[in-house]
Amino acid sequence: MTAVSPDRDETAPLAEGPPADVLVIFGITGNLAKVMTFLSLYRLERNGLLDCPILGVAAEDWTVEQLRNRARESIETAGGEPVDEDVFNRLASRFSYIGGDFSSADTFSAVGKAIDGKQQPVFYLEIPPGLFAMVIKGLSEAGLTTTARLVVEKPFGHDLESAKALAADLHKYVNESQLYRIDHFLGKKGFSETLYLRFANAIFEPIWNRQYVSSVQITMAEQFDVADRGRFYEPVGALRDVVVNHMMQLVAAAAMEAPSAPSAAALKDAMVNVYRAMPPADPANYVRGQYEGYRDVDGVAPDSNTETFVALRLEVDNWRWSGVPFYLRTGKCLPERQTELRLVFRQPPRVWIFDEHRPEPAQLIIRLDPHTGIRILAEAQRGDSRQPEPITMDMQFKDEGGEGPTPYEVLLHAAMVGDSGRFTRQDSVEECWRVMQPLLDAPPPVQPYKQGTWGPASSNDLMTDPIHWHEPWLPS
Ligand code: BG6
Repeated sequence: MTAVSPDRDETAPLAEGPPADVLVIFGITGNLAKVMTFLSLYRLERNGLLDCPILGVAAEDWTVEQLRNRARESIETAGGEPVDEDVFNRLASRFSYIGGDFSSADTFSAVGKAIDGKQQPVFYLEIPPGLFAMVIKGLSEAGLTTTARLVVEKPFGHDLESAKALAADLHKYVNESQLYRIDHFLGKKGFSETLYLRFANAIFEPIWNRQYVSSVQITMAEQFDVADRGRFYEPVGALRDVVVNHMMQLVAAAAMEAPSAPSAAALKDAMVNVYRAMPPADPANYVRGQYEGYRDVDGVAPDSNTETFVALRLEVDNWRWSGVPFYLRTGKCLPERQTELRLVFRQPPRVWIFDEHRPEPAQLIIRLDPHTGIRILAEAQRGDSRQPEPITMDMQFKDEGGEGPTPYEVLLHAAMVGDSGRFTRQDSVEECWRVMQPLLDAPPPVQPYKQGTWGPASSNDLMTDPIHWHEPWLPS
């Protein structure tokens, strides 16, 4: 086995490593590559952001021509736009392919031969997590990991213990700073927009705390169902699928302190400090729902107890947030598709010139995905009314230069230039599991809900008046 490389200095400004001189994709014949990777690579090529060869590795005995055909089909289907032949030919000329068994040393020596002389390989493992250690071990024993970056896909364990065990397995061969764990929410526009709004202005931070905020609400609503993913989803459920990872990234964006240095490590420290301040979640503040019809999905047990909806209340017990509930809600088959972060401010005291009317608490909403934008909801005087009325101040960015890069373009590019700030670190992964572990250990019974509704009515019981769930702000 080769020696583990020294830790890359994540504290260096911007923490960019040397750019990749080869990208090796394990599992390139699989579904994720089909729906996501080829299109992202194509768009990076189109934007002049790709400049290295790409080697695909998978069990199938494919030719490079088959790989190119798969890439073309995928780009056409996933992109829904005509393929630009020049761009595609440039991309296709980067491809080579090795078919081989991941348990065989021959596969890794063939990879070694194919990338001989390369100094900065990036290995992207689009394979089941059960195979991560096998592949990383194979690469390590072939002497290929000393300077490598390894990009891995979720899930990182299915609870705290398995997350630790997985990391311990991988750390036998590579250092933590070589591991680039993908959580695609870190590549979404909404995530960085939240940080910019908070920390690039002096007007929001002074009120972004327990003195002014009465609750934080994060809704990740999905209109679609589990579709053909029953076999994947059934042993997982919403809490593991999107809460412990994606939604917790948003909790960190909402709750963290400003990173204290221009480095990836400082950003990750700021995020993990939020999680460290969170007491374990209480199953009494946890509602699980299952949409009617879920049990008919292929791969789902007829008496399934898996949740497709989750609502929960969390706490961040530090000086900024103590006493402010963080409410998280997500589900499949809800009425809308929209993710948003909402700060509900405290209710103003009564002012007698406003007649009997008690003004509604002001709110600040950051719409994250698929639509983005910022709304401030306040009360104001309209005309000569003696009662305040709600008004909204909206900033919607849809007219400002298209949709921008997809999360996978952002993340693949970040991995290739060595920007590790876009990836999750093991301490955060473990802290998130620690917070959620009581919910896994003692889950309340799952309650059915009708498709097209906001989940079981009992999710309202998590809140006490005047706090209540707000439906997402949608584009008008
Ligand atoms: C994935 C989950 O990680 O994230 C899916 O497995 C979920 O169940 C998806 O639908 C949500 O991501 P996005 O980018 O579609 O909001």
